[in-house]
Amino acid sequence: MEELLARAKAAGFTGIILTVDLPVAGNRERDGRNDFTIPPRVTMRTASQAAIAPGYMFDLITTPPVNAANFAHMKMDGGLVQFVNAQFSRSVTWDDARWMRDTWGGKFAVKGISTTDDARRAVGIGADAVWVSNHGGRQLDTAPASIDTLPAIAAAVRGNAEIIFDGGIRRGTDIVKALALGANAIAIGRAYLFGLAAAGEAGVTRAIDILESELKRDMMLLGRTRISALTRDLIFQLRP
Ligand SMILES: Cc1cc2nc3c(=O)[nH]c(=O)nc-3n(C[C@H](O)[C@H](O)[C@H](O)COP(=O)(O)O)c2cc1C
Repeated sequence: MEELLARAKAAGFTGIILTVDLPVAGNRERDGRNDFTIPPRVTMRTASQAAIAPGYMFDLITTPPVNAANFAHMKMDGGLVQFVNAQFSRSVTWDDARWMRDTWGGKFAVKGISTTDDARRAVGIGADAVWVSNHGGRQLDTAPASIDTLPAIAAAVRGNAEIIFDGGIRRGTDIVKALALGANAIAIGRAYLFGLAAAGEAGVTRAIDILESELKRDMMLLGRTRISALTRDLIFQLRP
């Protein structure tokens, strides 16, 4: 960890995120169904899928292979997946998080917070940002939607740390809702990956442009001229 942190600093990064909701990978059933492995394994099914996507094949053959650049200089006995799994310690505690925050010395976020207790603990170890997330629903089955956990966490944290929110952001109105419910910033996972898969870097730019233009239009339709004016009263609630 010390080596990774030093390299990140030397590379000019000013903030790091500690993801705390992945002590072990969730049971991603579709990965098995789709023959998804890292590194990719060529099966009849994947080969036939690639065969009907000549653009993908051309790109694959003409561009440098994807590799685990961060770990390329390290000895990886047993392959990448085993190596990465071996890097996750299930004995990590809040003391370790504090150690990481102090060793890093720069901006520090704790990602994967779903409860007010953990949000307070993250603030307690000096986190600059509490990242409300259920890992895009990819970890614990039937965990609550992160948008439902946001208001209570925002109330518990408000003012003592920034709140970053992710989970299900697909449209400008999703951003409005998260900001109105107390997030200071939102993050996206699949939304940019869809763009990346469709058109590479240009696709990512396009995905972000779409979200930005939707957010602007939604704010005009709501009659709010500043992000800070996206307040809780925008959320329509039926009376009980
Ligand atoms: C393919 C994929 C890989 C991901 N890898 C990581 C990861 O390495 N570390 C991490 O903290 N979160 C990871 N996430 C979770 C995202 O950071 C984020 O919490 C989640 O995707 C947000 O939900 P959304 O996809 O609905 O926007 C990954 C998500 C996806 C879809």
